[in-house]
Amino acid sequence: MREQAKTLAARLTIEEKIMLVKGMGTWNTFPIERLGLPSIMMADGPHGLRKQDQGGDNALGLGKSIKTVCFPTASGTAASFDRSLLRQLGETLGQECRAAELSLLLGPAVNIKRSPLCGRNFEYFSEDPYLSAEMAVNYTQGLQSKGVGVSIKHFAANNQEKRRMTSQSVVDERAMREIYLPSFEQTVKRADPWTVMCAYNRLFDGIYCSENKRLLTDILRDEWGFDGVVVSDWGAVSNRAAGIEAGLDLEMPDSYGLHDDKLYNALASGELSEEALDEACARMIDLVLRAVEATQANDEPVPPADNEADHALARAMARDTMVLLKNDGILPLKREQSGVAYIGGFARLPRYQGGGSSHVNAYHVASAYETAIKEGLAIEYAEGFAVTDYNYDLVKAHAAIELAKRSEVAVIFAGLPEAMDAEGADRKHLDLPPCQNELIAQIAAVQPNVIVVLCNGAPVRMPWAGEVQAILESYLAGESVGEAQVDLLYGAYSPSAKLAETFPLYLQDTPCYGNFPGGTATVEYRESIFVGYRYYDKAEKNVLFPFGHGLSYTNFEYTNLRLSRKNLTPDDTLEVSVTVRNAGDFDAAEIVQFYVSPPNDGAVFREPKALKGFGKVFLKAGEKRCVKAVLDSRAFAYFHVGLNDWYCAPGDYEIHAAASSRDIRLSVPVKMHNDLEAPPAYDIALPSYDSGLVHSVPDAEFEALLGYPIPPANFASPRRLGWDATLEDATQSPFGRLLMKIIDFAFPIISGIAGDAIGETSSLKDAVVEMPVRTIAQWSAGMLTGDMLDALISIFNEEEYCKSICTLLRGGYNSVKKMMNGKNG
Ligand code: BGC
Repeated sequence: MREQAKTLAARLTIEEKIMLVKGMGTWNTFPIERLGLPSIMMADGPHGLRKQDQGGDNALGLGKSIKTVCFPTASGTAASFDRSLLRQLGETLGQECRAAELSLLLGPAVNIKRSPLCGRNFEYFSEDPYLSAEMAVNYTQGLQSKGVGVSIKHFAANNQEKRRMTSQSVVDERAMREIYLPSFEQTVKRADPWTVMCAYNRLFDGIYCSENKRLLTDILRDEWGFDGVVVSDWGAVSNRAAGIEAGLDLEMPDSYGLHDDKLYNALASGELSEEALDEACARMIDLVLRAVEATQANDEPVPPADNEADHALARAMARDTMVLLKNDGILPLKREQSGVAYIGGFARLPRYQGGGSSHVNAYHVASAYETAIKEGLAIEYAEGFAVTDYNYDLVKAHAAIELAKRSEVAVIFAGLPEAMDAEGADRKHLDLPPCQNELIAQIAAVQPNVIVVLCNGAPVRMPWAGEVQAILESYLAGESVGEAQVDLLYGAYSPSAKLAETFPLYLQDTPCYGNFPGGTATVEYRESIFVGYRYYDKAEKNVLFPFGHGLSYTNFEYTNLRLSRKNLTPDDTLEVSVTVRNAGDFDAAEIVQFYVSPPNDGAVFREPKALKGFGKVFLKAGEKRCVKAVLDSRAFAYFHVGLNDWYCAPGDYEIHAAASSRDIRLSVPVKMHNDLEAPPAYDIALPSYDSGLVHSVPDAEFEALLGYPIPPANFASPRRLGWDATLEDATQSPFGRLLMKIIDFAFPIISGIAGDAIGETSSLKDAVVEMPVRTIAQWSAGMLTGDMLDALISIFNEEEYCKSICTLLRGGYNSVKKMMNGKNG
C-alpha cells in the first residue's frame, strides 16, 4: 500500500472516515475534496458494462444503462479453455471502462458450479477450480492492464440463489480449500485484484462473509497477501462495525446513514477500534489513488468505445465458446444447401445473456435468422414455440412440423427462457419448457436431418438427444450469438469449445442432490470435494455429456505423452507435453486436457482424477504440434486438515492427456517422493467419501468430516428477530402473516408483468421474502430508516405495537415528503 494513503488516512476526521468506507449512491465512492480525493465510479460486469446514466431512478440501481457490447457470459468463455480469449475480453472491457470513466468493473464472478440448478451459473465459469482460476486470473490481468480494477466475486461459497442473503454454507475445510477457494486464491496471488467482493451468505462459524474475520483477514490478507479493498456485495452488510474489524472496507451501496449511529457507538464503546477504521480508510485511499494514477498515466485522451469493432470481436469470441455436443456427420451444412428450415423462436430472438445485475443494454443483437437472410442463405422459418412459451401450442407446432416435413434439414433453435437463467432464482429442474421438448421429438419423428441449437446458461436435459443428428450448445453467447451460430453451422469455422461442466442425465444424479438448496438456516455441502466430474467419476455415473467434451469438424490424434521426469518431490515442477495432429481435413483448434490421478492407496479419499493443465492449439489440416503444461506441487497435493496445509502424498500418480474427462488418450506414471510422513488426515473412517456415495452421508460421518457439530438446518421459530430477519421469518407474528398475505396477493400480478418463469424457478416473490429487512432498507435509498426498521422488528417480535406503528407512520410520511420534494426540486 502507498505510504501516501496511510498519511492521508491519518488526516481524516471521524466523519470523513465514516463517509469514506461507504458508497455514495449505488455506484460511487465518496470524494474527500479537502484532501484531493475524487469519487470513483464502478459498474457491473462481468461480460459487458452496466454503467448507469446518473440521476433519475438510479438511486436503486435499476435505471437503464448505457448501450454497450454484450460479450459471451462465463459459461461460454470458460468453455473456450482459452486464456488469451479471457485476457482479451478483460482488455477490451478495460478499454471500454476507461472510455466510460469507470474505475472498477464488478467481476469476474468465480463461484463454483455446485449444482446445475443455481440461477447464476451462466455468470460463473466452471465446476472445476483449476479451470475457473485460470480464466479468472487472465480476465483480471487483462482488465487491470488498462488501469481499471476488478472486483472478483462473490467471496465465498455462494453457490445458490435460494436464501443467498442469509443461508450458512456448511462446507468442510478440504472442500473449501480444494474446490471453493482456489479461483480467489490464484487471482489474488497471481493477478493482484484491486478489490474482492464479499458474498451475502454466512460461512465459517455461521458468521456473515461481510464480517467473517477468518475469511476476510486470516485467509485473504494474512495467508494470500491481498492488500486491496474488500467491497461488500450490494446490501450484504449486517453489523458494520464487526465488518470493519473483520476486514470489510467498503459498504455498497450507500445505506443513507443506516449504520452510522451504530458505528459511532461502536467506536465510543471500543467495540470497533479506530485503528481498524483507519486501515480500511487507508485501503480506500490507496484504491482511489490507484484509479487516479491510472487515468493520469497517459496524456492521450481515451478514445470512445468502438462498438462496431467490439461487436466483431464478440462474434469471434462467441464462435470459440459454443460447444458442438453431437454430430452424426450432418454438420457443417453447405452454404448452398437448399430446404433448410429454421424453427423455434430463439432463431429470431436468441437468448444471449442472463437476468439480474449482469444484464447489459446490448449494442446490437444479431439473430441467426437475421444473419442467414443478410448472408443470402436459403432458409424458411416457423416459430414453433416462442422464447417465453411453456405450453405446447397446437397451431404454432403444426406449422413448424409441416415446414420440417417439406424441408431437407430442420435446425431447431431452442433454450431456456430468461427467467430460468437469472440471478435471485434457482431452477427447480433441468428441463426445457415442455413445448420445446415435445416439438423437437415430433420433428425428429418426421424429419431425418435435425440439428438442435441451444441457448441456455446452464445444463438442460435432452430426452431427444438420441433422435437428432447434431446438437450445438451456444450457451449465452453475447450479442453476436446468431452470427457465430451461422459461422459454425455452415462451416466458416470449426467449433472448438469444450464443456467446462458436466451435463448430467438426471437431476437425481447430481452430486449435491438432496442437499441443495438446504433448510432455512443452512445448506450442507455433504458431497465435500466430489463436485462435478470428480463425483461422476468417483461414483461411476453415466452422464449426458462429460466435462471437457466438445466435438470439432476434424479429428485429432495424440502421440508422445512425455514428462520431464519420472520421479519428483514436492519442490519440483513437472513439464508435460503431448503431440497433437489434425488428422482430418478441416483447420481447427484442439483443447488438450491434462489430468492427474492420485495414488489409489486408500490413505485418504481423493477424486479419481483432476484437471491440472490444459492447452489450446490451432492446427491446419495435417499439421501437428506439441502442447505443454507445467505442473507444480499443487497439481498433486490435497489439503491435509491435520497439517492445515497442502500435502503431496508419496506414491504412484498417473498423468493423462485427454480430449475430455471421459476420453483419455494417453497416460504415463510418475512417482512422488516425500520425506514428510503425514499423520492420517481424519481419525475415523469415512466410508461414504471413500466410495463416493455422497448422496446419503450419515450425520456422524459429515460431522467427523467437518470437525464440529452440524449446525441446525432450520432456524427455530418463533425466535427473537433482529435486522437480519426476513419477511419469511416474520410470519411467526400476526403482522408478518398479514404482510405475507398481501405479498401473496400482489406477486402473481407483479410476476405476470415481470415475466416470471411460471413456477419453474424459485420466484421473484421468494427472492423478496428471503431478503433480510436490513437489505430492503439499504436498497430503499433512505426511505426505510433505522428507526423504522427497529419499529418493524418490534412488531415482528410482537412488542410495543402502538409506539412502533406510530414510528412507521411518521417515518413513512417523512419519506414520502422527502421523495416528493426530491421530485419537485
Ligand atoms: C450482485 C453482485 C452485483 C451487485 C451490484 C448484487 O446483487 O450479487 O454480483 O455486482 O449486486 O449490482
